[in-house]
Amino acid sequence: MVFLWHTFQMKIDKYVFRDLKTEKDKEALREFLRHQTNAEFGGYRIFDGTRTHLMHNPEELSDLIFFLKSYEKKKRKKIRNFLEVGYSSGKLNTILNKFFNFDHIVGIDDFTADMSSTDLLANLRRKNLTLICGKSDKKENLKIIKQFQPYDLIFVDGGHEYKDVKKDLDNYSRMLSDNGILIVHDIHRIRHGMNSDVRTILLIRSLYVENIFLFVV
Ligand SMILES: C[S@@+](CC[C@H](N)C(=O)[O-])C[C@H]1O[C@@H](n2cnc3c(N)ncnc32)[C@H](O)[C@@H]1O
Repeated sequence: MVFLWHTFQMKIDKYVFRDLKTEKDKEALREFLRHQTNAEFGGYRIFDGTRTHLMHNPEELSDLIFFLKSYEKKKRKKIRNFLEVGYSSGKLNTILNKFFNFDHIVGIDDFTADMSSTDLLANLRRKNLTLICGKSDKKENLKIIKQFQPYDLIFVDGGHEYKDVKKDLDNYSRMLSDNGILIVHDIHRIRHGMNSDVRTILLIRSLYVENIFLFVV
């Protein structure tokens, strides 16, 4: 029994999600993420049509997690309630949940994009999740999402057209808790139709990490 516990401890110690304190931990996470990511995003995988890859740049995502962890410490605030607009198959959601072990997660997606149904099913499990299927600006959906506010962390990554992002920002930034953080993904890419109007709004109070903007409200 003692031996088994010892073995278990060793495995946990090597687990990349265990903690994230040092630069070495961060590099271990980066490397882990590279294995989940396609080459176009800076990872080791080739696109194979299964859509099981992580849709994030490994450097950017590890920086973000590192930042959020230190933010929790600095503000003495546990990130408990998480809202993800654009859940997709939930890969990012699961990764963030490993680090923050959220009390409650709300996700919304209209499921119009291609994704892996196997990943989707796997990423519904072992978390306290309310998942809404539908458009993020629909009145009925907003009403449901509002019931669970305020959110400590909101990730806006649904429709990427200017009008969609603007609506999501208007609707969801109101649902943040004190010192809550709102993240908008893919905001600076011209191909997503972002124009200077959205970028100006965002830049006013943002901390820029590659193509992720963080609002600290
Ligand atoms: C870039 S993916 C999200 C990726 C996910 N956040 C992640 O990091 O793994 C964008 C998702 O938004 C969804 N979507 C697009 N327009 C939407 C809308 N108006 N309302 C809700 N979901 C939408 C798509 O179906 C797609 O799954």
